[in-house]
Amino acid sequence: MPRRNLRDIAALHASQAKITMLTAYDSTFARLLDVAGVETILIGDSLGMVIQGRDSTLAVTLEETAYHVECVARGAKRAFILGDLPFGTYQESPQQAMRSAVRLIAAGAQMIKIEGGTTMAESVRFLVERGVPVCGHVGLVPQSVHALGGFRVQGRDEAGAKRIMADVKALAEAGASMIVLEAIPAKLAEELTASIAVPTIGIGAGPSCSGQVLVTQDMLGISDRSPKFVRNFMQGASSIADAVTAYVAAVKDGSFPAAAHSY
Ligand code: KIV
Repeated sequence: MPRRNLRDIAALHASQAKITMLTAYDSTFARLLDVAGVETILIGDSLGMVIQGRDSTLAVTLEETAYHVECVARGAKRAFILGDLPFGTYQESPQQAMRSAVRLIAAGAQMIKIEGGTTMAESVRFLVERGVPVCGHVGLVPQSVHALGGFRVQGRDEAGAKRIMADVKALAEAGASMIVLEAIPAKLAEELTASIAVPTIGIGAGPSCSGQVLVTQDMLGISDRSPKFVRNFMQGASSIADAVTAYVAAVKDGSFPAAAHSY
């Protein structure tokens, strides 16, 4: 089977099937996720915390990310591959974003992910017009942890919800092909998902998103954090492969995330 491409992901969304995504940083996990049927794999800047043991994502470099993208692209033969642009490698200008995106695309990414909404819309349009598919990321944006005053749920008040609505609309209009919604109320995520044609991928954003993503080490219960939105899929599983298969099934049938994992 050939590697999934952007049209395959759009077709999944058009058929109203939930889109499955997990993070990976190395070829062994990438192969395992691929075989278990995970459709899209994100090489997230969460690698700063999960792989490098840092307390934020902020120090991850473009070269480190490119290295992990290469590892994952070698291990996963079928999954669609997204590479996360690290903090400081795209915020300056559309041109800087393009240069950084080119590095991850050359390493094997098929789409790049950037954090931010209205302020990033110009860069999103610039990249899309030059052939780079883009995934946006709004709500809790970890690269802005200092500005947000910590890793906190976003969009709980009216002003915050309106800001996120404007962000999502701006990204969709700029041509983003996917938007990650992180740590926002489930009701807001439901409204956002219904308001755009672009698939939304939730993490702590309730069950109505078009798909779901988790950090793999979190859903295996082997990281040192367990946010409310994570379910430990190793519970009741006899192997890592079983746990990942259970995650795919639970996202597909809508049983994950449950109310207990939502805000
Ligand atoms: O860096 C990452 O892994 C992410 C996901 C959690 C969405 O951005």
